[in-house]
This record gives sequence, structure tokens and C-alpha cells, in this order.
Amino acid sequence: MNSSELTTAVWELDEDEFPSDGSIQERARFLLRYAILAPSSHNSQPWRFAVRDGRIRIFADDARWLEVADHDKRELQISLGCAIENLCIAAEHFGFGYRIEYNDAGDGAPIATVTLHSDGTPSNIRPPGLFDQLTERYTSHDLFEERSLPQSTRDILRQCVVEDDVSLHLIEDSDQKRSIGELQAAADLRQMDDREYRKELGYWLGIGALGQPWLMARISQAVVTAFDLGDRESRNNSKLIRNAPVLGLLVTETDDPAARIKAGQVYERLALAASANSVATHPMSQILERPEKRDELGALAETGDDVPQHLFRLGYTDEPTDHTPRWPLETVLSTQP
Ligand SMILES: Cc1cc2nc3c(=O)[nH]c(=O)nc-3n(C[C@H](O)[C@H](O)[C@H](O)COP(=O)(O)O)c2cc1C
Repeated sequence: MNSSELTTAVWELDEDEFPSDGSIQERARFLLRYAILAPSSHNSQPWRFAVRDGRIRIFADDARWLEVADHDKRELQISLGCAIENLCIAAEHFGFGYRIEYNDAGDGAPIATVTLHSDGTPSNIRPPGLFDQLTERYTSHDLFEERSLPQSTRDILRQCVVEDDVSLHLIEDSDQKRSIGELQAAADLRQMDDREYRKELGYWLGIGALGQPWLMARISQAVVTAFDLGDRESRNNSKLIRNAPVLGLLVTETDDPAARIKAGQVYERLALAASANSVATHPMSQILERPEKRDELGALAETGDDVPQHLFRLGYTDEPTDHTPRWPLETVLSTQP
């Protein structure tokens, strides 16, 4: 992938350009312009798509897998789930129905296939207004205001969880948040102590994937790669967690790719619903990246037999945040039908 192709122009999407009279293939490709706006860990965008008629196959691109941070591909699969959710929201908006098949992607096989059909009866699985948020949503790294989320907003977030095997925990208890903050600090220290982890993070910072201008991106890469900033990171991140009015934790009954993709779909649905209600979202993955800390998180959040998949902060902030760049659709679209 050529880093010079990363661009924020992809966010300037005009729905009036939908090719209503075009072939099903052209229309399906237009929907994918929304899929690539999805969040992904380190903005690695580990997706690749192949379109044949109304059949869209979604592949994981291992060249953009975070091999060190994400050793078991949990974040990669969640990120793909986010892209699939954007695709389905756009499909419904433009009058399509769809069916999703989840595959246990072996070598070279798609991780999921979305098949569009012309019966556009809305699935009613989502709160209204999410399509408009596809081009608005962003991840916030700010310290959130102290005020909590009103019950009505928490109810909307809960309504986003319709998949049988995915559940949402909303954590507001200050003792629990303090303990999770301590876990975060310990996980940050461990991760930043690992040169390979810092090198990988440095790479994504350096190519500008996290949205910094060229010079700042290069300086960040040099600093992160050379120095163990664990102390600073752990202090900052544990404070972000302690002070967040609400922490969200998505858990699943099993820990297979399909469950993780579904968790990704739910996260994106929820992040878009949060955005529609002026609530900022911020995933925090370091605890989940360390198997022993992931178990401790499950015990702290009392998830029982369910497996923690995705942890994120929810809250309010006035700070404006710019969109991060993406590789254009053409770069991640397979030319093979
Ligand atoms: C599975 C997953 C894990 C993520 N983990 C983190 C994280 O640990 N820390 C963080 O600041 N952002 C995290 N993010 C947010 C990404 O960095 C963000 O989505 C990406 O940079 C694109 O920016 P955007 O969400 O503003 O479009 C994560 C996102 C996903 C989907």
C-alpha cells in the first residue's frame, strides 16, 4: 500500500452521486465508499473487497494486520465488522435488502459475504439516522466532560445490540472504572516496554494513518520507536478511563471470527448512534491485547462466561477533531471479480 495515497477526500461523499441507473455492480461499489470510512485499530484499514453483481466478498488483508499488538486478529476482525456495518447501513439507505454470510476464513477465503437484493424492506435493527453519521463519526481522544449520559441515550445504545451472541456492558461505577484504569496503566506499561510493539505503532504513526501532518507524523514515529513512553501513556490513559462518564464493553459468547465480526458491527452501530446523540466514542485496546489482562477485565466487569472483545469510552467533548485519512476505495477493491 502506498502511504501517499492516504487521503481525507474520501469523507466528502455526496449521496446524490449514487448511480441509481447504473448496474448492480456499480451501485454495490458506491456503497463501499461508505464501508471504508469505518474505524479500525491504528487506522490500519485491513479490508479488501471483491464485487460480482450484488455479491460483495470481504477479505482480511494480512499485509495490514497488526501482528504484534493484535496477535490473535481480534482487532482486525472487529475492524472488518465495522466496515460491514457501514456497508449494510448504506445498502439499506439506498433501498437494498441484504444477507450476510460469515465464513471461517481459511487461506484466501472471504471472511464474510454480503449479498444485496432488491427487497429493501428496512431491517429495523438500528435506531434511525445512522446513515447521516457515516460521514460524521470520528474517534475522540479527549478527556470527557464529567456529565453522564441521560437514560434515553443509554437506552438507544442498548437498542443497538440485536445480535444474539453479543452483549453490551455499560460501566458507570467509579470503583470499577478506577480498577479498569489501573488495568489500563499496567497494560500500557507492558506494551510500551516491547520494542516491537513500539516499532509497529511507530510505522502507522509515521505514514500519517493517525491523521498527523507529515512532519509531526515522522517525529512521532521516531519518538515512539526510540523511547519507552509507557509511564506517560499509562498515566494519561488511566485518567481518560477513570474520568469517562461511561465505559462500554462488548462481550461475546464465543471467541471465533464470526462473533468478533458481529461485535464490530455492533460497535460501529453504537458509535454512529452515539455520534447522532453528540456522544463521543474512544476504543481502548491495550488491556484486551494482553491475554491475562483481558481475563482480569472480564472478572472486573463481571462478564461471566462471555468473552471481552471491545472496550471503549463514551462521553461528551467540545474539542473539534479532524477526520483521519483512508486509502481510496480503488486501492482496496480487487480487480478480480
Ligand atoms: C478494533 C479497534 C480497536 C481500536 N483501538 C484503539 C485504541 O486502543 N486506542 C485508540 O486511541 N483508538 C483505537 N481505535 C480507534 C482507531 O484508532 C480509529 O478508529 C482510527 O484511527 C480511525 O479514526 P476514526 O475512528 O476517527 O475514523 C480502535 C478502533 C478499532 C475499530
